[in-house]
Amino acid sequence: ADVFTYDPGFTSTASCESAITYIDGNKGELLYRGYPIEQLAQKSHYLETCYLLLYGELPNKAQMEDFEYRVTRHTMLHEQINNFFRGFRRDAHPMATMVGVVGGLSAFYHDSLDITDPWQREVAAIRMIAKLPTIAAMAYKYSIGQPIVYPRNDLDYASNFLHMCFAVPAEPYHVEPALAKAMDRIMMLHADHEQNASTSTVRLAGSSGANPFACIAAGIACLWGPAHGGANQACLEMLREIGTVDRIPEFIARAKDKNDPFKLMGFGHRVYKNFDPRAKVMKESADEVLGLLGVENNPLLQVAKELEKIALEDEYFIEKKLYPNVDFYSGIILEAMGFPTAMFTPIFALSRTIGWISQWKEMIEDPTGKIGRPRQLYTGATARDYTDVATR
Ligand code: CMC
Repeated sequence: ADVFTYDPGFTSTASCESAITYIDGNKGELLYRGYPIEQLAQKSHYLETCYLLLYGELPNKAQMEDFEYRVTRHTMLHEQINNFFRGFRRDAHPMATMVGVVGGLSAFYHDSLDITDPWQREVAAIRMIAKLPTIAAMAYKYSIGQPIVYPRNDLDYASNFLHMCFAVPAEPYHVEPALAKAMDRIMMLHADHEQNASTSTVRLAGSSGANPFACIAAGIACLWGPAHGGANQACLEMLREIGTVDRIPEFIARAKDKNDPFKLMGFGHRVYKNFDPRAKVMKESADEVLGLLGVENNPLLQVAKELEKIALEDEYFIEKKLYPNVDFYSGIILEAMGFPTAMFTPIFALSRTIGWISQWKEMIEDPTGKIGRPRQLYTGATARDYTDVATR
């Protein structure tokens, strides 16, 4: 029989070559196209980072203006997509709506889309970057029964997203620049993360030559789980359940108990075993935003801070190298900004779309590319003869 390497969870299998994102888990290092995430978070902005991830180099001024112009021209959705939203129950999770609607985009861009044509791949990428915030905001508005707010192309990417989420027709809405900056940073810190579960899903789906919008929908589905992007929502819900600082030890004890499936959400990472560099930047952002909004004394945030402190000093967490990850702090910021927990993972999804589409593009353009087709170690019955139902 054929012999295969057994690597459940792909802990030691490289599935592709990639020149996009580099992670050194022991050093806590994350580079987008060679640039450290800390520098990008400080000096760049989300759309510039999108350009970098997609094309490999930082844009000059003219290239940036052109890219921004192209992205903003695609922020609207086909009006018929509104009907698609109406088909979902009001109480649907926005991630469920997003999986459906983004997959549904493949019905709007289908026959004309030839992925062997570089120009068409490019337009698909631009459309995706432009439309995901609109879709996420529409999913939110739909879930709370408010009219959808159309994109405003005079606003920057992050401000436009806040506008679409929080504006209502009845009164003017002012986007606070400091909040837009924090939103932009959240998006940037989530932009790509090499071959994580959702990105691998997008690559696997794309390896068959499937429609890229359908591939991104597959990525969104994978991201939703609480072990991946769903952790930001799960983390906030956990903080709520803990409720008060005095109950933290009880939950720490549960997280350490082998017989209890409970895990501290927002802690631990498959690759980072020292610290999550995104979490460091996010923590600074959290302090800034909470200060700005004057909510430092919010009880939920007090629980978060105390939990972090206790866990970082606890032997179990030290020994297993479990640190707060990006989802721990992003949820706190989004909560303070006024987003309901159900919107946390959609925000992760719209931010990660650039990573997914850059990785998809890289894969399609790789001349050695093959369809992804893992094998297995078969553990079932050996060959046997069919028996008639009367004899069973
Ligand atoms: N709380 C308590 N114990 C934990 C935790 C946690 N959050 N994370 C890992 N452990 C324990 C785990 O039980 C295991 O113990 P043992 O060696 O005794 O069996 C050990 O630490 C190693 O963990 P693992 O589950 O084998 O590690 P993994 O690489 O398979 O999983 C992880 C990584 C992120 C899925 C996991 O740490 C986890 O479930 N964390 C909570 C969910 C979370 O925050 N996810 C977001 C990840 S970062 C952003 C993203 O990817 O979206």
